[in-house]
Amino acid sequence: MNWKLPLGLVLCVLLPLSVAASAVDDTPDIIALRAKYLPPGAIPYPDDNPYSAAKAQLGKTLFFDPIFSSSGTLSCGSCHKPDRGWEDGLSLAVGDSRQALKLKTPSLIDDAWLDRLGWDGRFVSLEAVTFAPITGKQNMNMSEAGVIARLSSIPEYVHDFKTVFDDATISRKHIEMALATYERSIVAAQAPFDRWAAGDDAAISQAAKRGFAIFNGKGRCAECHSGWAFTDGSFHDIGVAKDGDVGRGRLFPTSVKLQHAFKTPTLRDVALRAPYMHDGSVPTLEAVIDLYDKGGIARPSRSEVIKPLGLTAQEKADLLAFLNTLTSRAQPIDIPAPPR
Ligand code: HEC
Ligand code: HEC
Repeated sequence: MNWKLPLGLVLCVLLPLSVAASAVDDTPDIIALRAKYLPPGAIPYPDDNPYSAAKAQLGKTLFFDPIFSSSGTLSCGSCHKPDRGWEDGLSLAVGDSRQALKLKTPSLIDDAWLDRLGWDGRFVSLEAVTFAPITGKQNMNMSEAGVIARLSSIPEYVHDFKTVFDDATISRKHIEMALATYERSIVAAQAPFDRWAAGDDAAISQAAKRGFAIFNGKGRCAECHSGWAFTDGSFHDIGVAKDGDVGRGRLFPTSVKLQHAFKTPTLRDVALRAPYMHDGSVPTLEAVIDLYDKGGIARPSRSEVIKPLGLTAQEKADLLAFLNTLTSRAQPIDIPAPPR
């Protein structure tokens, strides 16, 4: 018997496979899906704290000024570092006294769109967060009066607050408004994924396109990391937090589902933001994918969406390739020198 198959037959069998593997982005489903990830319009600034360029610039100078920490060495930007996806690369943040806090520094990217902030969502606005790190004993360890006295002793700040707020004295409210205005301007820069979402088929690899399909399909990631900012702004137990680490459950002690629940983080610039999770317990993106594949700690609070996924090695690699397309190569930002 002749075992050689005619070339035509071989092509008939192989061609459909290779077409299927290389044309993930051509299916109507994927085109419809990727269009859901186009960025929204303008940054939403609240009516009671509208944008002005001078206010954002003042907020930026304050953000990078170590004047807010007791020792005068730690600024907001020491923990929320622009070149690390606005995190610091540490498992747990380290405050002014060099002691570790209980939480990892979260990213600030696209916070303007969130109406609950903090890993447990206890802050209702960017303005409301401001003095928590400043007066936190383990964080910057300053009093409100101490901060105002320091700022008021610097003529440039007195001048800038007067210009922006038409107010002769520097107040807590205006410090909050200036910092929050700057923070709202911290938005995701264009990543390869965005070029693909906008229609450039060559912007990401075939592996990443398959990964996107897994992200929205078998992996069920998009059920929580939804939309162009890759977060639903909500709180879930994904089976990571250890006993006693209840997250949002502290605010809602009788809710079963909010025990061990933490805010869904954005996945923008995620490759720059290791280690991962609110407790910094997961060192790499590969380990994050393995964790979701296993399904985390099974308990009543765990989201029903989280369960063992049975991903193959190829699917894990594809998912990783996709996650890596969410990282932009933004120009480094100019960090203003403190005015003194
Ligand atoms: C020692 C490191 C450190 C410093 C300094 C620091 N932060 Fe943070 N930041 C954190 C940590 C940790 C959290 C998480 C706190 C929580 O969830 O309760 C956080 C949370 C936030 C959040 C909420 C983000 C979100 O998406 O939920 C904002 C906004 C924020 N910080 C702004 C600031 C500002 C403004 C300053 C300066 C006044 C500042 N931070 C100083 C570590 C720091
Ligand atoms: C049920 C909602 C949900 C699903 C489904 C989900 N996530 Fe998450 N994700 C979260 C929450 C909540 C956190 C933060 C958990 C924590 O810190 O304890 C998180 C954290 C992460 C982080 C770490 C980000 C950081 O800032 O530390 C990555 C990366 C991530 N998820 C990727 C994925 C991928 C990939 C999938 C699909 C395989 C997925 N997620 C599925 C809700 C979800």
